[in-house]
Amino acid sequence: MTKGIKRKIVMAVAMVGGLAGVTLVASAENAAPIKDPEIERTRQHIKMLDDVFKTAVVLIDETYVKHPSDPSAASAAKALFAAMKKNGWYDVRLIGLTDKVGDPDDEPKDAFEKTAAKRLRGGEQVYEEVMEKDGKRYLRMATGIPVVSENCVMCHAHFKGDKGNIGALSYTMPVVK
Ligand code: HEC
Repeated sequence: MTKGIKRKIVMAVAMVGGLAGVTLVASAENAAPIKDPEIERTRQHIKMLDDVFKTAVVLIDETYVKHPSDPSAASAAKALFAAMKKNGWYDVRLIGLTDKVGDPDDEPKDAFEKTAAKRLRGGEQVYEEVMEKDGKRYLRMATGIPVVSENCVMCHAHFKGDKGNIGALSYTMPVVK
């Protein structure tokens, strides 16, 4: 994100066995998970969207993408994300975590995404930070993308045999009051 964002609280969560089992595994400034109900509401909101996006992307990929020359589900997702941002809802980016990222735009950009990339590549499923900008709070959350189907390897040959997160969705969501 832009300059001037103050990193308020840094925490990393590992999700064991899906979205239900959130466990705090590391925290730079806070010993306990954030109990703030506004943060929790925002976190739930992101998890719901994350489920919608990932389900849609996998469905598009499985149903419509048959040849390497077909438009990718990633391009469809990016068009959808651009519309959400343009309409003023929130910001979500598709990022790549391998050293062969197809579009330079998809590389981890700022400090948050670079830290998230390391954590998710290291085996965690979710990484989050709460930030403040111009008096408003934002929850930033990155959620891992593994190689979910054989179809992925058709276009991303270097994903073959990779059992970890090869990508992530990076959300910047205004905290829900
Ligand atoms: C038809 C070819 C094709 C298939 C199949 C495909 N992708 Fe992609 N993928 C692309 C292209 C092209 C881009 C770059 C699109 C862009 O950024 O505009 C991309 C971008 C990505 C990115 C963003 C960062 C990077 O590594 O470039 C990720 C993550 C990703 N794909 C994961 C997947 C996964 C997981 C699957 C399987 C469910 C998959 N892709 C299937 C073509 C494909």
